Amino acid sequence: MKTDLFGNMLQSPIIIGSGPLSYSARGMILLDRAGAGAVVTKTITRSAADNPHRHMLECDTNTLINCEKWSDYSMERWLDEEIPKAVREGVKCIASVGHTVEDSRLCAERLEEEGCMAIELVSYREETVLPMLEDTRKRVKIPIIVKLSPNSENIIEHAKRCEAAGADAFTACDSMGPAMKINIGTGRPVLGGDGGYGWLSGAMIRPFTIQKICELRKYTSLPIIGLGGTARWQDAVEMILAGADYIGICSAVILKGTRLIKEIDSQVDCYLEEHGKSSLKEISGMVQQFLPQEEQKENYQMKFHPETCTRCGRCIRVCPYDARAYGQNESMEVDERECRKCGLCVSVCRFGALEV
Ligand SMILES: Cc1cc2nc3c(=O)[nH]c(=O)nc-3n(C[C@H](O)[C@H](O)[C@H](O)COP(=O)(O)O)c2cc1C
Repeated sequence: MKTDLFGNMLQSPIIIGSGPLSYSARGMILLDRAGAGAVVTKTITRSAADNPHRHMLECDTNTLINCEKWSDYSMERWLDEEIPKAVREGVKCIASVGHTVEDSRLCAERLEEEGCMAIELVSYREETVLPMLEDTRKRVKIPIIVKLSPNSENIIEHAKRCEAAGADAFTACDSMGPAMKINIGTGRPVLGGDGGYGWLSGAMIRPFTIQKICELRKYTSLPIIGLGGTARWQDAVEMILAGADYIGICSAVILKGTRLIKEIDSQVDCYLEEHGKSSLKEISGMVQQFLPQEEQKENYQMKFHPETCTRCGRCIRVCPYDARAYGQNESMEVDERECRKCGLCVSVCRFGALEV
């Protein structure tokens, strides 16, 4: 689905987040050919990174922990070779720059000259983002995206300050953490970085990202790239409903391969068609109108659909109050005195047999 970003026509609304897939022009071109609307470079700084061994692991389904640093190519290489090559090949290139004003100062103008469509500023420390943003704003005319951290103490206040200082869009969010995995055979941490820890990304962080985007959408009308946890088309739709305008992905494309990009793009398209919508704009932030203003108690009626129930028994097993049981003739009995309407049974039913 073609989508506009800052006046550039993207082949899809999917933007590949900064990470190992965009380590070079070669990686970025592959992502572009696989259908990515835009690609954010691995973070460019003054000095090339030297990464520990190991620096990446899969810790759960579609979830990674990594302690990979910024780019292991020099800034000069990005400016002289990688970005010009990617741009020449038609990649819609967003340059990720971090982590201090000394870094952004050295490359901002050149990134614009070499044809980057935007600059994304990122930092491990919130206090360095504003100086970077203020300085970069003076240097370039291309849009500046600020990448927000879910680890921030007050992400909304930070975002407001960035908007006031001239940010054009937000990427929400970066990976979460720190996080750690221990090899139970050896008793050692799996990752080789300082302290043995890394940063969590992929499916496990999605509920956090969704909440941050939802919160952010209340306070800003700037475009939001929803990044953090998308591994399936349903996740992408959830990001958009929360308030994102574009679908960011990093870990899931690493783990599932670049075919995921077109898969998600076309399935999101089908979703829109089925719901009678023609663009993501029409559903972006839709959840906002449904956010409860006070605790909900009324109108919670549960329905049982025997025709789709496979009698797998999950809803019965998970009920903490032992309120459910199969009845006669494909019925389900609910002990209304014990049922607290927690809703867990509905969420574990994979067949749509329970509905609120
Ligand atoms: C191995 C790896 C390396 C990453 N390197 C960077 C980086 O250099 N700069 C950056 O801003 N984000 C980096 N990220 C964070 C991603 O851009 C993204 O914010 C995060 O992974 C959440 O998205 P996801 O759940 O789709 O992976 C990295 C993520 C991973 C998994």
